[in-house]
Amino acid sequence: MEKTKIQLPIDEMPTKWYNIIADLPEPLPTPKEPDTGPSRLEFLSKVMIKKCLEQESSDQRWVAIPEELRELYVQAGRPRPLRRARRLEKFLKTPAHLYWKREDLSPTGSHKVNTALAQLFYASEEGKEGVCTETGAGQWGTALSYASCLMNLKCVVFWVRNVHDWKVDRRTLMKMYGGEVHASPSDMTEVGKEILKETPAHPGSLGIAISEGLEYAEKHEGCVYCLGSVLNHVLMHQTVIGLESIKQFNISGEQPDLMIGCFGGGSNFGGFTLPFIGEVLKGKRKCEFLAAQSLSAPNISRGKYRYDFADHAGKTPLLKMYTLGHKAEMPPIFGDGLRYSGAAPILSLLRNLGYIRTKTYPINEKVVFEAARVFLQTEGFLPAPESSYALRAMIDEALKCKETGEEKVLACNLSGHGFLDIFGYKKVLDL
Ligand SMILES: Cc1ncc(COP(=O)(O)O)c(C=O)c1O
Repeated sequence: MEKTKIQLPIDEMPTKWYNIIADLPEPLPTPKEPDTGPSRLEFLSKVMIKKCLEQESSDQRWVAIPEELRELYVQAGRPRPLRRARRLEKFLKTPAHLYWKREDLSPTGSHKVNTALAQLFYASEEGKEGVCTETGAGQWGTALSYASCLMNLKCVVFWVRNVHDWKVDRRTLMKMYGGEVHASPSDMTEVGKEILKETPAHPGSLGIAISEGLEYAEKHEGCVYCLGSVLNHVLMHQTVIGLESIKQFNISGEQPDLMIGCFGGGSNFGGFTLPFIGEVLKGKRKCEFLAAQSLSAPNISRGKYRYDFADHAGKTPLLKMYTLGHKAEMPPIFGDGLRYSGAAPILSLLRNLGYIRTKTYPINEKVVFEAARVFLQTEGFLPAPESSYALRAMIDEALKCKETGEEKVLACNLSGHGFLDIFGYKKVLDL
């Protein structure tokens, strides 16, 4: 029988996260204070989890995953399979070998659980009463609600309003986990009230929701703010994806020539690729890396590499990253998790040094959702709208191989499933 699934035994699950900061060819530019206003670094040190802040600036190459947290990873279904998409290959008549990593199998439906569990584990260790956060697609808010539920902590979620309003079932799921959900901008915070005063029907943005979450944490003793992408420690927690994949490719007997991920702030892309990029930097392997984005928010594709705030209200320190501007307006798309102004500083540096290629797709999402349908009809699984961007890019590369006859090995990260996003597919594919 042809092998299509590479599974690792539980005791092969990573015991350490990989921190690429130790191996970067240039020092990572550090966060900066703006010229005016209060100290943002001091502010963050008050509202964030201490352990995460420590990890944020760590240059230790390997960071041990606490044993109790590894048990939670197992409870959430890690290690996750790497699959070969042989039926898709046949359908495309491509000589390329196509692989996909199954982050869609997480309890809440995406990779976000990998860092949510880590952050809640540390919040609980530090004696916190609760956490708060922003969410765009809703996957991060659900993952954090789930992790909070496991740790018996309160979870408050500020959810970008226009997505909050159409993802009714995901909202219910978040509430079933015990999450307290607010459409953002909300009247819970000064930032939200100010925006609503000017534009009562404001659709919201991730930048605004981050500002609201930060303000909420500042005003609620015992509540810490958690971020689901962009930051160094978040990418590091996500490296369990790539570390498992390295072992799985070794079992498969072939190695990827090109690795692809969709890219919002960069956490699933980084989690999947950084362990491989680390080996490229050391001259141990050859591989290319491709980030798939929407033209709605082409941060790492078309943004400027400069210092910018990570939130709308400018409450965070300035980060050196590819940015569209922290107040940029980005047209709504159904793959809303890709709609953020800034790209992770680590990945921005690697892009600037030429290690990451990018590809953007039109705002109407038609070609992207067509790829999701082809995948569903060949492999049988429904990707999240965001993950469909990675699939589209992998299919495009596979079709190039068909023209050139190259037998390349392509791999993409399927960052989530789309069972709670059916409405978006219905609209775009006119079903
Ligand atoms: C399923 C899924 N994939 C990808 C993303 C993009 O985020 P990141 O770039 O941090 O992986 C999101 C964000 O919400 C998501 O829900």
